[in-house]
Amino acid sequence: MSREQISAIAHAGHPIKSPLDDDSVGRLLEHGLPRGDERVLDLGCGTAEWLLRALATRPHLHAEGVDVSEVALTRARRAASVLGVAERLVLHRQEAADFTSPQPFDLVISVGATHAFGGLLPTLAAAREHLAPGGRVLIGESFWDREPSPAAVEMFGDLDDLATTVDRVTADGWTPVHGHVSTRGELDAYEWACWGSLAAWALDHPADPAAAHVLETADTRRSQWLHGYRDSFGFVCLVLRRTSQ
Ligand SMILES: C[S@@+](CC[C@H](N)C(=O)[O-])C[C@H]1O[C@@H](n2cnc3c(N)ncnc32)[C@H](O)[C@@H]1O
Repeated sequence: MSREQISAIAHAGHPIKSPLDDDSVGRLLEHGLPRGDERVLDLGCGTAEWLLRALATRPHLHAEGVDVSEVALTRARRAASVLGVAERLVLHRQEAADFTSPQPFDLVISVGATHAFGGLLPTLAAAREHLAPGGRVLIGESFWDREPSPAAVEMFGDLDDLATTVDRVTADGWTPVHGHVSTRGELDAYEWACWGSLAAWALDHPADPAAAHVLETADTRRSQWLHGYRDSFGFVCLVLRRTSQ
């Protein structure tokens, strides 16, 4: 079973691939889309869950998503058809950094995908290239909420704390007009959903050749979370505008 297939099972019960509950996602979209007729781009869209939610509740919205995962984009296309929003959604399978568009966007989303650009500030620089005047960016990034263990650093790399993360963003010429720091409840719910879905799938498919590997993955990842990073990992989403155009 491929990593993408394992990820699809892990996120079956939590289609937003980030530690956010539905209300938080809805509020972030409201702050990013104040009119409802915007053009939206999601860089590293995965199954396009952010775009699908935005399109389903805003009939005049148009959206484009970019991701390297064909598995995720196929699921996104299917879901868009079911929701009746497919004609307002364009999906591109390519490196997010290579994406170009003849028309700018009013909102650029990139949540949990800054690694696609090599970090937070390069992601913001790329988003800026796609922004219409007065446009907004909705970005989601990890940070250290407490001193990380060596194992946590090994898994997530060299993150900043929350204040430093926001300082770097503002020093880069952006002003947060909304923000959300994932609660312990959201962080825990995301981890339980991922590793619980994987474990349940393995127990439900004992004859599948992948069952043992999937169960082992669920056990390993749950243990890495509980022993390695549960007490130090944080996640913040920011809705940003350029401080001056
Ligand atoms: C943690 S998921 C987040 C998905 C989505 N933003 C969400 O919040 O539900 C990260 C996504 O980034 C995509 N990705 C990773 N590297 C990428 C790249 N270089 N270009 C485009 N997408 C990339 C992955 O395929 C994955 O779908």
